[in-house]
Amino acid sequence: MSDVLKYIEGELPRFRSELYDFLRIPSISAKSEHDGDTRATAEWFSARLGEAGLTTEIVETPGHPVVVGEWRGAGADAPTVLIYGHYDVQPPEPLDLWESPPFEPTERDGRIYARGSADDKGQLYMHVKALEACLADGGTLPINVIVIAEGEEEVGSPNLVPFVEQHLDRLACDVVLISDTGMYDEGIPSVGFSLRGLAYFELHVHGANSDLHSGEYGGAVANAGNAISQIIASLHDDDRRIAIDGFYDDVLEWDDATRAQIAALPHSDEAMAATLDVSALPGETGFGTLERLWIRPTCDVCGILCGYTGEGAKTVLPNHAMAKVSFRLVPDQSPEKIKALLEAHVTRVAPEGVTVEIVELHGGRPWRASVDGPAFEAAAEALEEAFGTRPVPMGGGGSIPIVVEFEERLEAIALLVGFSLPGCNLHAPNEWLPIENYEKGIGALALLYDKLGRLA
Ligand code: BES
Ligand code: MN
Ligand code: MN
Repeated sequence: MSDVLKYIEGELPRFRSELYDFLRIPSISAKSEHDGDTRATAEWFSARLGEAGLTTEIVETPGHPVVVGEWRGAGADAPTVLIYGHYDVQPPEPLDLWESPPFEPTERDGRIYARGSADDKGQLYMHVKALEACLADGGTLPINVIVIAEGEEEVGSPNLVPFVEQHLDRLACDVVLISDTGMYDEGIPSVGFSLRGLAYFELHVHGANSDLHSGEYGGAVANAGNAISQIIASLHDDDRRIAIDGFYDDVLEWDDATRAQIAALPHSDEAMAATLDVSALPGETGFGTLERLWIRPTCDVCGILCGYTGEGAKTVLPNHAMAKVSFRLVPDQSPEKIKALLEAHVTRVAPEGVTVEIVELHGGRPWRASVDGPAFEAAAEALEEAFGTRPVPMGGGGSIPIVVEFEERLEAIALLVGFSLPGCNLHAPNEWLPIENYEKGIGALALLYDKLGRLA
């Protein structure tokens, strides 16, 4: 392996400038005006995979294409690793809060600032460079590799399950390896043991057939703004638990070992509150901050639209209100069941004189793993060799809904090895990835591929 690591060392400047080319293409999957850019990104990525020594194919879907790369030189008896990532990114808005343009990668303070640097182009490209290093100069790998890069992760992967279903034989593998999460802290690598699921809805409250004068009608006719506030307020109780009947029925208890591991991690509420400029970190009674983030479900209003919000005062009873409400789920909750429970809840609490409509946006199932076994040990060793510290097990508050689907449909285990850092502004202005993690991480992945060869 030392020649592979030496190769990486010598090519780091090029590895960085190639990533910048990747980051410059605005592959914003949510915006159709960027469909051309998103496709160009798939083509660019496919070409780089080819140069790294894989055979590649761009597979069309009803939406953005999936890029597939394959290297099967290890032979039928060797383990097969499926590397998954996404080449699409979130919209960059609000643009005026970026200190350097989102699609012009800029180095500041040892960080690469650009949309997609951490989520997920930077991390996905680390795999391409690790593969290139292993296969360069007649090199070889002890594992067969399939790379799946999708262009719709940030819009809920609407076409990925059908893609997996249609390619079950081709995607057969032992391990699904994903770098789309983070390290616990600077210098502390981690292996992921959980991801939350998601159930995301729009609530629409409809009142009278028109907005009304709030003096002429106020007090006698239902106000959609008051009604949606009442509904939203009913979603939590005084302990900040979710007050929907049956909501916690499927929440699995976590084993004492995992809770003890979480409790042993270095964490300070005071420091976290200070970084965020908030006076306190309120959450569900009975759980610490890390547990609230990783192993407990949530209900959050992500946006509200209602009534007059322009300059000055307009006395009006709005006849329509909308709220975007998301639930982060934990094992074994399912988005379908949460939808049914929410519908029943809203029917129960909706005030008289309005109708409420619930529109489902998207959903995804939660995931949890036990952090032991040979694949986890391989990851732990590779990360320790590259970063000098043994990784800590870490939960993921976000969602990568395809992970459970991969595990179930391919009967493989998922290994989450991420390299972004807390505070790296995922989905926000000024997203960044540490240059050090990008570079050390490429070495870590090359070491990991080698160690996964042991699974044979
Ligand atoms: N990479 C993130 C998921 C993530 C972030 C996992 C932080 C763990 C920690 C992914 O790109 C993402 O943003 N997922 C969406 C879900 C999706 C259905 C739009 C999310 O979590 O909101
Ligand atoms: Mn991501
Ligand atoms: Mn994301």
